[in-house]
Amino acid sequence: LTVWDDIFATRSWGRWPAEEVVRAVASLRSPHPLRVLEVGSGAGAQLWYLEHEGHDAFGVDVSRVGARRAVERLDDERCAARVAVADALRLPFPSRAFDAVLDVETLVYVDECHTADAWREVRRVLRPGGRLVALMFTTATYAWADRGAIATRVGERSLDAIGAGPLAGTGRTAFVDEDTVRALALATGMTVVDVQRRGRTAGPERHWIDELVVVAQAPA
Ligand SMILES: C[S@@+](CC[C@H](N)C(=O)[O-])C[C@H]1O[C@@H](n2cnc3c(N)ncnc32)[C@H](O)[C@@H]1O
Repeated sequence: LTVWDDIFATRSWGRWPAEEVVRAVASLRSPHPLRVLEVGSGAGAQLWYLEHEGHDAFGVDVSRVGARRAVERLDDERCAARVAVADALRLPFPSRAFDAVLDVETLVYVDECHTADAWREVRRVLRPGGRLVALMFTTATYAWADRGAIATRVGERSLDAIGAGPLAGTGRTAFVDEDTVRALALATGMTVVDVQRRGRTAGPERHWIDELVVVAQAPA
């Protein structure tokens, strides 16, 4: 069992995509339906939304429990999106298969020494000029800001054993800043076309979650 199987088995999960995701997907505007892959599709909120917007949605998730949740929900709502159990580092799709890839707080859970590999894998499955939309926690997020007290730092920019707040118990998590993202794009042959920032509080103690919403493009 992955830590995520445990989480999906014991916690309820959002049914709707966040506003920023809706805005970022809308920014991909296209006169025809897009083939979109969500890496780490969880319980399927984004897949549901993408299908309802007329796109052709595919999801992969490393958690069998999460993928099952998504399939149940999508079946219940007669939604055609497809879901597979797979690791973001080994996507079960041919090269150039998608117009866009969505990463909503997933690749931050790939060990930081493999983040660039994950972006290269995303680039592989994107068509030339295709776009990655990625939501990533920044170093202004409460867990990084309070790291001495509530978490163990590992590597350059990751935390293990976050002991408080909404990110507790989710396993090793990476935190980025804009320079890190630009370096990642450079290293993987992607071009950053937009970076927005969003912050929100979460949970009863109103912990601060801060994210970059990155749009990066594969070479044309
Ligand atoms: C914070 S949840 C986000 C889920 C979904 N994107 C959403 O917004 O509702 C992170 C997701 O990433 C998945 N995940 C973590 N590591 C992964 C990996 N290496 N490959 C694929 N999925 C992964 C987890 O199982 C979980 O579903």
